[in-house]
Amino acid sequence: MKIYDFCKKKEKKEKISMITCYDYTSARILAKTSVDCLLVGDSVAMTIHGFKDTIAATMDIMSLHTAAVSRGAGDKFIVGDLPFLSYRKSLRKAVCAAQALMQAGAHAVKLEGAAGNEKLIRHLTDSGVPVMGHLGLTPQFIHTLGGYKVQGKTQKSADRIKADSLALQEAGCFALVLECVPTQLAEEITQNLTIATIGIGAGPYTDGQVLVFQDLLGLNIDFKPYFVKYFMDGHDQFKTGINAYIDAVQSGAFPQHEHCYRN
Ligand code: KIV
Repeated sequence: MKIYDFCKKKEKKEKISMITCYDYTSARILAKTSVDCLLVGDSVAMTIHGFKDTIAATMDIMSLHTAAVSRGAGDKFIVGDLPFLSYRKSLRKAVCAAQALMQAGAHAVKLEGAAGNEKLIRHLTDSGVPVMGHLGLTPQFIHTLGGYKVQGKTQKSADRIKADSLALQEAGCFALVLECVPTQLAEEITQNLTIATIGIGAGPYTDGQVLVFQDLLGLNIDFKPYFVKYFMDGHDQFKTGINAYIDAVQSGAFPQHEHCYRN
């Protein structure tokens, strides 16, 4: 998938699949699937590092994980998340943050919100950095939003998200994540835009879908948002494999001759 395929797929009504990815091994697995796009999301702070929100993600964390994914991802299109405040201090600092992710192997960056980001988006796209937007429930705004709640339920909030989506398109974003918004609003925004929308908790009518790797594989069973579907019972399968190893060690069934070096 190349940057121009996002619009092409939208035009042809072919759905775009995006999955988060944070490490080399998972990237190697995803590289062998037909997934369209990998997102090195700032959700890495929660999923991999165990923080309670994405505010904890830093440029060091994002650069390290983007580089690891890039080494395993083959020719997959990689989007790197610009972390909390990294793009809000000054145009210069934001450009440096985008540069770090692109030089770590991202093919595009993602940022949250529209207000105050338009100039940066124009500057980045004019400088060879494709930008993906992110509206609705924007986790970096968790303390402004007052929690992980569905956005766009009131007319005022829906109008704001619609206006923001047009502003992001106008500023030059090539695609837009819509997170936790009512299905009808996501459908309306998708129809209004020429750029692709990628939904998470936004219903079936967006141009594509994104899920967190650990969520779709059922690895993270302590927390299951309403919109997550487990496509595999990963938690139990991992446990079964690990317990089989422990049993084999304890019974002496592992290692066998074929696992041993000879003199
Ligand atoms: O960080 C992330 O994983 C994201 C997705 C939820 C879209 O931004």
